[in-house]
Amino acid sequence: HPHILGIEGFSAQDITHLLDLADKYVDQNRRFDKKTDEMHGMTVINLFFENSTRTRTSFELAAKRLGADTINMSVESSSIKKGETLIDTAMTLNAMHPDVLVVRHSESGATKLLSEKVNCAVINAGDGSHEHPTQALLDALTIRRRKGRLNNMTVAICGDVAHSRVARSNIHLLHTMGARVRLVAPPTLLPAAADRLGVEVFTDMREGLKDCDIVMMLRLQMERMQGSFVPSTREYFRFFGLDREKLAFAKADALVMHPGPMNRGVEIDSDLADDIDRSVIREQVEMGVAVRMACVDILTRAKREEQA
Ligand code: CP
Repeated sequence: HPHILGIEGFSAQDITHLLDLADKYVDQNRRFDKKTDEMHGMTVINLFFENSTRTRTSFELAAKRLGADTINMSVESSSIKKGETLIDTAMTLNAMHPDVLVVRHSESGATKLLSEKVNCAVINAGDGSHEHPTQALLDALTIRRRKGRLNNMTVAICGDVAHSRVARSNIHLLHTMGARVRLVAPPTLLPAAADRLGVEVFTDMREGLKDCDIVMMLRLQMERMQGSFVPSTREYFRFFGLDREKLAFAKADALVMHPGPMNRGVEIDSDLADDIDRSVIREQVEMGVAVRMACVDILTRAKREEQA
C-alpha cells in the first residue's frame, strides 16, 4: 500500500504485520531513550483541518521518535483562511518534498482525493464519517495485548455510530480479524445501512452488552448534528451512557474503551472511565504512538531502502 487511507482493503496479514511492528515500538517508547534515526533526513507534515489532541500529537511524536523532521500546519494561521483550496494547499506542501502527509479533514474522501495529487505517502488521520484507520489499529493493538487475540472476540460498539469514522474503521478491522461486532445505539444514531454491515444491531444497551468481551464507547458528535435530531444529554446518558449497572451485563473481565475525546457523564460515567481495572482508555493513547510509528515506518521503508 503506498498510502494508508482506510482499513477497508487491508488483509488480515497486512493488519497483523502492522500490529507486530507496533508492538516493538511500544517497548521502544517505554525506554528512557525513545529515539532512533531510522528516518533521519525525512519529513512528515501534519495537515489537520479539524481539531485534534491525540492523533496530531502522536503522529508528531511518532515521526520524531523515528528521527524524522515534523511540521504541524496550523489551518487557523494558514492561507486556507484566505481561500486556498485543499488541493492547492496540498500541492504547495508537496512542492517542499515531504515524505509523508498526515491529513485530517471534515469531508469523507478528502484524503483519498489529495493522495491522488501528491507524490508522497498520505495517511488518513480521519475524514468526515468515513474512516480513521490508525484509531482502529491502535484499538486492535490494545485489545490484542490485553486479550491475546482478536479472533472470536465479541465487541460492542456503542453510541453515535452514524457519525463515527472510528466505528467504520473498527468494523472493517474487527471483521477482517475474525471478531464479532455488535452496534448498540438509538435508531437515530445508527448508520442508514447498518443491516448491510454484517453486524448485529441492538437498540437496548443491556441486551447489546450481554456477554461481550469489549465495550467500545463512542463520543456523541454534537458538531455533526446541526439541523438533525440532537438528543438531550441527560436522557442519552440514562439509556446509552455506560455505567457500572449496564457494564455488569458484559463479561466480568470485559474491557472498556473510548477513542477520546470523552464527554464525561454523557456517553460514559466519569468514575468508570478512570477505573484502571476496567478502562483501557489511557492505554489506547499509549498504543496510538506505537501504531503511528509503525505506519510511518512501513510507508517510507521502500524509499529508505532505495537510498541505502
Ligand atoms: N481519537 C482521536 O482521534 O482523538 P483526537 O481527535 O484528539 O485526535
